[in-house]
Amino acid sequence: MPSISASAPGKIILFGEHAVVYGRPAIAVPVEGVRAKAMILARPTAPSNNVLIEAPDIGLKSLLNDLPKNHAFSLLFSAVKSYLNLEHFPAFHLRATSSIPIAAGLGSGAAIAVAMLRATAEFLGCPLTDEETSLLAFESEKAYHGTPSGIDNTVIAYAKPVWFVRGQPVQFIPIASPFTLVIANSGIKSSTAEIVSVVRQNHEKDPAAYDSLFDHTARISRQALHALQFGAINDLGPLMLENHQVLQHMGVSLPELDRLINAAMVAGALGAKLSGAGHGGNVIALVDPEHAQAVAETLLSNGAIETITTRISANEELPCSPS
Ligand code: PMV
Repeated sequence: MPSISASAPGKIILFGEHAVVYGRPAIAVPVEGVRAKAMILARPTAPSNNVLIEAPDIGLKSLLNDLPKNHAFSLLFSAVKSYLNLEHFPAFHLRATSSIPIAAGLGSGAAIAVAMLRATAEFLGCPLTDEETSLLAFESEKAYHGTPSGIDNTVIAYAKPVWFVRGQPVQFIPIASPFTLVIANSGIKSSTAEIVSVVRQNHEKDPAAYDSLFDHTARISRQALHALQFGAINDLGPLMLENHQVLQHMGVSLPELDRLINAAMVAGALGAKLSGAGHGGNVIALVDPEHAQAVAETLLSNGAIETITTRISANEELPCSPS
């Protein structure tokens, strides 16, 4: 019996993490070099609702019905069931694998969800649009993020650079000139839900200070959008450093991340910042392609456990008009 498979890329946030949870804009791009994959095989002899999920990367092999109700996969499939008005699922075996580092700010959870959704929808004969895929993947994001902004499922479902404002229709960014990023995994695992909740508590304690940090971030994101749309790649580096400083003030960096950023700059990066929730996870460095290897090696010798060099291509999206 033939299998059905689907995949989805990783992602990184270029500008605006945390502020995006509070309605400010953020910019994220897909990372095509790492992917999550889902493969489905029908189980014609098994009774309906017998959905076996296997995800070897997280040591999981379980029937869907045996997973806790708040598990990301339970949330995902119950969203699919109600969205498609299904009484039950036909029996199938879904195997999900991924080359995206887990809990590192590369969107592994959202990418797994998008790949699973696409494969499942095709298996059920009900293909989903990118918008529907993003909407349903958002349900499983709640298991990882608590109160997700929705940026991960959006950039991964559409697989395009996005200008994202919570609750508003997504806009795609026309990238005028390609650029190269070195992504370095600090090896420090962090829980997005926990860090988002610490920022929330700090915001509640001192709303004026945090609102001003979020507003500062929004100004940086707008300038970065302009630079991306007009191919002013050299302007992005200083903006990344400025965004990192704001994230330091929010309290989400770590000395280990600051050290990686300084090391990347000494090795010739044009700019660098943490990416994602912080307290670990990734830093990203903007580099001239000829410096990519030196920057990657320096990051590795300063504590990073792995690096990914990725090229963000130019595209021909229509100009986007920030709100
Ligand atoms: O750690 P990541 O890459 O999943 O990103 C979290 C980004 C936040 O802005 C901190 C949270 C969110 O839901 O947008």
